[in-house]
Amino acid sequence: MTSDQYSTTANLNKRIAIHERYSVNKVDLWQWAWQHYPFHGSPTVLEFGCGTGKFWRSESAVLSPDSRIVLSDSSEAMLEEARRNLRDLAYDFSFQVGDIDNPSFADSSFDVVLAHFMLYYARNPASALERIRSILRPGGWFGLILPSRENLTQLYDLAQSIDASFPVNDRDMLALPAEDAEGLVNTCFDKVERYVFADSLRISDVLPLIDYLQSIPVFQSHTGGRSFYQRYALAAQEIIDREGYLRVSKQTLLFVCRTGQ
Ligand SMILES: C[S@@+](CC[C@H](N)C(=O)[O-])C[C@H]1O[C@@H](n2cnc3c(N)ncnc32)[C@H](O)[C@@H]1O
Repeated sequence: MTSDQYSTTANLNKRIAIHERYSVNKVDLWQWAWQHYPFHGSPTVLEFGCGTGKFWRSESAVLSPDSRIVLSDSSEAMLEEARRNLRDLAYDFSFQVGDIDNPSFADSSFDVVLAHFMLYYARNPASALERIRSILRPGGWFGLILPSRENLTQLYDLAQSIDASFPVNDRDMLALPAEDAEGLVNTCFDKVERYVFADSLRISDVLPLIDYLQSIPVFQSHTGGRSFYQRYALAAQEIIDREGYLRVSKQTLLFVCRTGQ
């Protein structure tokens, strides 16, 4: 299921596009993350589930150019696009196919490990975190970003209001909401800082909305048929006609998780 979802970059890129087009908060999430991450000098960095490398595109020369950065993802297609997207950046990037459940990195081999919008794909997030902790050098830190349980709720609520069989508890991205991950990182790391990024989408066109929904796994696996999307489009259009846009709240949490010296 996850491998189908990311066998090409199309689904991820559709989702990124709607956030870029309709987000109200003018602060870029990635730049906000750079501001909170305690990067300095020339660390060795490992990112799990790097996707198309968007985080690195938004950097603003915080790190020394000789920083060694390993970008890892379970999808070859993601790594290929990340390689293309980042080829003009000065850092020493390397790209590796890899699974967060089964990482092949030695103990104490990185100063920083990152996992953005992907820990919910780990089969066992608690063991993945233990492994991340052991990959980190003493004094290293782990940057975790995940959506809150309150993220995008209006999209799912609208689906349920037009089709009661739309699953309530299977909101794919929320297999591990940030609130649940918080307990796990607090157990695994010595000190955890928590930051909240609040935003909303004001969606004023139905077509890109439907396109977006069709890129989300729980919508893809819902067998509502064509009429489901027709009814969704009508219901969304009614709201847009009445209010000017469909408002969808977004909430993202960032954790900086430190190991002791
Ligand atoms: C929602 S995307 C996030 C991509 C990127 N971190 C971002 O925030 O734009 C999830 C990424 O995790 C990757 N992924 C899924 N399961 C994985 C696993 N078990 N191990 C490593 N990467 C995985 C996917 O291929 C995809 O690139």
